[in-house]
Amino acid sequence: MNQPALSVRDLVVHYGRRRRTPPAIDHVSFDIAPGETLGLVGESGSGKSTIGKAVLGLQPPTSGSVLLDGVDITRASSRQRRVSAIDLRVVFQDPYSSLNPARTIGQTLVEPLRVLRVPKPEQWQRARAALEAVGLPGDAIDRYPSQFSGGQRQRVAIARALVCDPKVIVLDEPVSALDLSTQAQVLNLLADLRDQRQLALLFIAHDLGVVRFLSQRVVVLYRGRAMEVGDVEAVTQRPRHPYSVALTAAAPVPHPAEQEARRAAREALGIGVAGTAVAAAAGCPFASRCPLAVDVCRRSRPPLVPAGDSQAACHRVGEVPALLATR
Ligand SMILES: Nc1ncnc2c1ncn2[C@@H]1O[C@H](COP(=O)(O)OP(=O)(O)O)[C@@H](O)[C@H]1O
Ligand code: SF4
Ligand SMILES: [Mg+2]
Repeated sequence: MNQPALSVRDLVVHYGRRRRTPPAIDHVSFDIAPGETLGLVGESGSGKSTIGKAVLGLQPPTSGSVLLDGVDITRASSRQRRVSAIDLRVVFQDPYSSLNPARTIGQTLVEPLRVLRVPKPEQWQRARAALEAVGLPGDAIDRYPSQFSGGQRQRVAIARALVCDPKVIVLDEPVSALDLSTQAQVLNLLADLRDQRQLALLFIAHDLGVVRFLSQRVVVLYRGRAMEVGDVEAVTQRPRHPYSVALTAAAPVPHPAEQEARRAAREALGIGVAGTAVAAAAGCPFASRCPLAVDVCRRSRPPLVPAGDSQAACHRVGEVPALLATR
């Protein structure tokens, strides 16, 4: 890979001061190249948004680092952050609460440019160009968020990210609040913009089907740890970690036969749905739900190791394909 647009190195995030609770993020690393989407997938509470917040400087990491285009911004001052904010933008799930209802779309779009002291005529020119890039009509600039549908508001949020001409965009569940056909339109728009502008996207979603659509590579997160990392096709078609098997089995797919095969795979592995049992601090966080768990799983933490076409953190990683095949 050329210089990554975004690098996350050995990230650890603890909420609060007490170190007795397990960290929300536990030694997670990944790179995203220009023009690439990395999907971050996992069930609710797995730490996806926490990684997004740490990248954006909204949550200070306990340790580890975040590099934007090779520059360490982990502990950047607020002044340095204003500079990196040009290159690093965000789109959140909820366009209703992330857009100020009292401001016109134009006012919202020029706001970051005002902060950057872009000359005024250029601010409005760039705002109009950003609206055009996301497929909104030119007169949108004088209208208010309430005059738009959910999908259109999310386009406005994307335009607000684009207006600074960033290198990296963090997308935290950007289509989760939209209906299916609007989801597809917004995902297509994001893919087009990424390809045209060589954007690096950190794409956060709980829905593997959505992640699969947009991402080239994927990190499967469970309780703050990377369970499997690899090309999206490998992880979704030939998962090597028992948790990825559970996740792929749960994801809706368009073909009933494939859906059935996945359900059977899930049953073969006997993996339950979201558990509440507290993970042993030392061992594999998935042990309380994993049908393959043995003593060593509860005692020692499995490292990420090459497995098939991806990398997986499982002591019994080599046995997963055979188990699936012999069900
Ligand atoms: N501000 C916070 N203070 C304390 N704990 C938090 C805070 N935000 C998130 N958490 C905890 O960190 C874990 C990961 O949360 P989050 O990153 O929001 O997960 P996800 O986005 O995958 O649903 C959860 O256990 C959650 O309860
Ligand atoms: S390390 Fe053990 S408990 Fe964890 S996923 Fe692998 S087999 Fe299951
Ligand atoms: Mg979240």
